[in-house]
Amino acid sequence: MSAPVPAAATATAPVAEAASAANAAPASDYPASHPRIKSFVKRGGRTTTAQARAWAELGARYLLPFAPQPLQPEPVFGRRAPLILEIGFGMGEASAHIARLRPGDDFLCCEVHAPGVGALLRRISEQGLGNVRIVAHDAVEVLQHMLPEGTLAGVHIFFPDPWHKLRHHKRRLLQPPLVALLASRLQAGAYLHCATDWQPYAEQMLQVLGAEPLLANTASDPALGGYAPKPDYRPLTKFEQRGLRLGHGVWDLVFVRRPHIP
Ligand SMILES: C[S@@+](CC[C@H](N)C(=O)[O-])C[C@H]1O[C@@H](n2cnc3c(N)ncnc32)[C@H](O)[C@@H]1O
Repeated sequence: MSAPVPAAATATAPVAEAASAANAAPASDYPASHPRIKSFVKRGGRTTTAQARAWAELGARYLLPFAPQPLQPEPVFGRRAPLILEIGFGMGEASAHIARLRPGDDFLCCEVHAPGVGALLRRISEQGLGNVRIVAHDAVEVLQHMLPEGTLAGVHIFFPDPWHKLRHHKRRLLQPPLVALLASRLQAGAYLHCATDWQPYAEQMLQVLGAEPLLANTASDPALGGYAPKPDYRPLTKFEQRGLRLGHGVWDLVFVRRPHIP
């Protein structure tokens, strides 16, 4: 039985409602040849009492409501600093680790799964992280409506849902229209870092990111076949450590935004 998310918190960011409504709406800047299909489906999952309490007690401070208007990072974070977007942080283990490691950067973290939002709120509070804010909403809509062109210093997409079955591949987040949207929101020289443990998805990412004219691959070691060494700031999460013990691979991809199309 899930603990109810407090009314005050749901009013601030109606995650479940957003997740279901969002599954229907086409995105305005997706071409007709690539109509938008959501990268997530509403899933159940237990919100613990502690996570629900985090929504109630910390939501007003750290949750930003989705609004179809440009975000003003300075009043939100109380300073001007490089802004990093994270898409789909799950339970926020890596998000909190990186925010602690990089106090000079600000992190805007998007997730549609309510228990995960509660979990990251708890980490923010427990670890005293002043440089993290959460939008409990579809990150694609956040990119489209809240983040103007050239505003991001970086994007993190760690272990996006692989959607293994062929008929579900259309749900994969990393598709050409999303990559073009991401590239447009990055500043010149800013980076896009993706990681996955599913080789066919890694290959698709390499292909789609490599085809975006505004992005350049940073990978320089031919032995790694276009993939990057794991950047030091990305922690090995428990999930990943378990996979590595089982002999599974992990692929990191780090691309940077060119100033203009070559
Ligand atoms: C497989 S989990 C990975 C979580 C985390 N990054 C990790 O490494 O453990 C992918 C997460 O992305 C979230 N997600 C998928 N599409 C999203 C979107 N468009 N906006 C926000 N979150 C999304 C899902 O809810 C899910 O929690």
